[in-house]
Amino acid sequence: MALKLPSRFPMCSGKPHKASPRWSTAHLIPPPNLAGCGCSLLPSSAASSSRGGGGRAVVHAVKEEETQSSVLAEEETSRASSSDSKLVLVIGATGGVGQLIVASLLSRNIKSRLLIRDPSKAVSLFGIQDENTIQVRKGDTRNPSDLDSTIFEGVTHVICCTGTTAFPSKRWDGDNTPERIDWEGIRNLVLALPPTIERLVLVSSVGVTKYNELPWSIMNLFGVLKFKKMGEDFVQNSGLPFTIIRAGRLTDGPYTSYDLNTLLKATAGKRRAVVISQGDKLVGEVSRLVVAEACIQALDIECTKGKIYEINSVEGDGPGSDPAKWRELFKAAEVN
Ligand SMILES: NC(=O)c1ccc[n+]([C@@H]2O[C@H](COP(=O)([O-])OP(=O)(O)OC[C@H]3O[C@@H](n4cnc5c(N)ncnc54)[C@H](OP(=O)(O)O)[C@@H]3O)[C@@H](O)[C@H]2O)c1
Repeated sequence: MALKLPSRFPMCSGKPHKASPRWSTAHLIPPPNLAGCGCSLLPSSAASSSRGGGGRAVVHAVKEEETQSSVLAEEETSRASSSDSKLVLVIGATGGVGQLIVASLLSRNIKSRLLIRDPSKAVSLFGIQDENTIQVRKGDTRNPSDLDSTIFEGVTHVICCTGTTAFPSKRWDGDNTPERIDWEGIRNLVLALPPTIERLVLVSSVGVTKYNELPWSIMNLFGVLKFKKMGEDFVQNSGLPFTIIRAGRLTDGPYTSYDLNTLLKATAGKRRAVVISQGDKLVGEVSRLVVAEACIQALDIECTKGKIYEINSVEGDGPGSDPAKWRELFKAAEVN
């Protein structure tokens, strides 16, 4: 069946929410060295010798190992069945990161539903796809009425990577400003999401907690970081299972619309090594491909639930699409 073009649905209302941020303390993780990530995957014998060989330590290490293995097994099971059972709603699918997310889901045989302002863009970007592969719905996150419950029917996971320019541009036409997208749009989305979703991944930005400080205050002249933080807070206080990925300055394509073949061949060039941290401490750049991969990985990695991370990428070998390496990176970033 050909790609189904959108339907519109009746009203779903939303009201403002008072946010009360809870921020973790800062912790800067060096470029990923998986061997020294600080996340204990040591065999029990190695763990016991590193703790002086005490019996208690051995029991503790074994328990830790068992817990980790069962978490890993659970993640493996969910991942194995995921291509069949997952339906990922992608919002911002026509954007730089969003296009890569859609292409990557497609290459993994994971079904996606795209909420797009102009559905004709989906055809030019992703071609004519079977409804069982990519579904397209028309919608603008500024309009609560576009976020009808049928948009979320069957949806198991959500990735939101909407955004606009930090400074006034043509893309703000029609009042599509950071305030409307990064705050009101996110609030509308959160209010409309059913509590049954397994994960909401939101792409945000580094610097959101420091928008009054230089150099962030320059970037925030028109409020983009402030509104992103308000959106984040709303997600964080929603009670939904969320993961927030704060991207550094985005590099690598696609900067504009590409076709699917180009997207599937996209690489992060030499910047494949991933740096993940918490506490809004990172300042650098990140490849869009790395952000897209981080979002998809976070959907299944249990320890990322309820967490906020920032992400950079640097020259060197990276985790690619290996779930175990991503899990170690996220785990190592955790603030104790
Ligand atoms: N650029 C950077 O250096 C940087 C740094 C840190 C974080 N970020 C953030 O990272 C995320 C991804 O960035 P990107 O460069 O991939 O984004 P992008 O190319 O600007 O794409 C933005 C996406 O949001 C969609 N969108 C805009 N307004 C919308 C609305 N009212 N309703 C529904 N969808 C809407 C756009 O759809 P249309 O095609 O309809 O416009 C597009 O798909 C964004 O949140 C961005 O702010 C960017």
